[in-house]
Amino acid sequence: MKILAIETSCDETAIAWGETNEVGFKILAEELASQIKLHAPYGGIVPGLAAREHTKNLEIILNKLAKKTSQNKITRLIQETDLIAVTCGPGLMPCLLVGVAFAKALAYKYQKRLIGINHLEGHLFSGLLRDNGQADFRKLDFPALGLIVSGGHTELIIVKNFCDYEILGETLDDAAGEAFDKVARLLGLGYPGGPAIEKAALKGNENAFIFPRPMTEGINNNFSFAGLKTAVLYQVQKEKKNRSHPFSSKKDAKSTKTDLSSIVVCDLAASFQKAVIETLLIKTKKASEFYQPKIILAGGGVFANQALQSSLKALGEDLNKEIFMPEKKFSTDNASTIALAASFQAKKAFRSDRFYQKLVANPNLNLCVKN
Ligand code: KG4
Ligand code: ZN
Repeated sequence: MKILAIETSCDETAIAWGETNEVGFKILAEELASQIKLHAPYGGIVPGLAAREHTKNLEIILNKLAKKTSQNKITRLIQETDLIAVTCGPGLMPCLLVGVAFAKALAYKYQKRLIGINHLEGHLFSGLLRDNGQADFRKLDFPALGLIVSGGHTELIIVKNFCDYEILGETLDDAAGEAFDKVARLLGLGYPGGPAIEKAALKGNENAFIFPRPMTEGINNNFSFAGLKTAVLYQVQKEKKNRSHPFSSKKDAKSTKTDLSSIVVCDLAASFQKAVIETLLIKTKKASEFYQPKIILAGGGVFANQALQSSLKALGEDLNKEIFMPEKKFSTDNASTIALAASFQAKKAFRSDRFYQKLVANPNLNLCVKN
């Protein structure tokens, strides 16, 4: 079965063409346009601009994708396709609408089956995709423990089977990736925040400041990163006050525009990153010991972070559990992981009879809802 997958939930316009059978999946072609440069001057994603960019780019990307295949033309590529899949949530509503409308138009024109995919399901199984674009389903063993750490979500999940999930815990406020982005902004490191913090952290001392490891006491699978972000803010204000001239005003110290030395910025970035990673690790270890999953499935944009990757790998060795973590290019948003998730969904009877008329975008789509 050949699947054409479309992803526009946030700031990446992506389309992938993949092939699946009973035991595996492989990417036949993929194409992605990042909007980082467009949003960078605003210090974050502007939903209206992102949606406009998706509208502009989707056809261009589909055309480029077709040219990467022997089909060469969009028409021939889609005629060869058995199923169209599109991210229908969660994400930014204006962005989701563009992708869903585009997918519906294609499905209607070519009379193809269409399914909506939960963006988080793409992240969840992303660790199964190897660098060569192939995934072997026989490596999966259920129940698995899922750990999603992205810009919009931080969740621990029990994966009972394909498409059968139970959310153990989620963030009560900011997601981990969001905290990276906000802390980067207050350290004056710009957007996108995650990679900027990681780069600064490499030059910093991770033990220079002790930040909280939120909600790591007792048994609780929820997360909270807003307080950690505020702890960094207070430390920034303290450092600035220490550096400021005795006659400078209180207002200067409160300003988030950083005038800290680059050493302090790197130390703050490293100490913050360590606090986030340790928090994720402590909670994953506790959940793993309690629920005794067969494997751990980790995914989401924050796994582009090498320090997080190596710490979780060490935890896997400690727990004697195989941990599937995404290759860097499959950690952040892309359409190949959406095509992979679609290959599981397509096998499920409850979704196989869904036609394009019924599909809607849902910015708050929950992983457990049979959309
Ligand atoms: O999964 P993703 O691409 O989009 C969402 O579904 O949210 O994740 C984006 C998030 C952003 O918050 C970004 O700062 C974070 O992933 N991120 C990183 C790194 N690269 C991206 N966080 C930490 N270190 C990185 N290297
Ligand atoms: Zn994502």
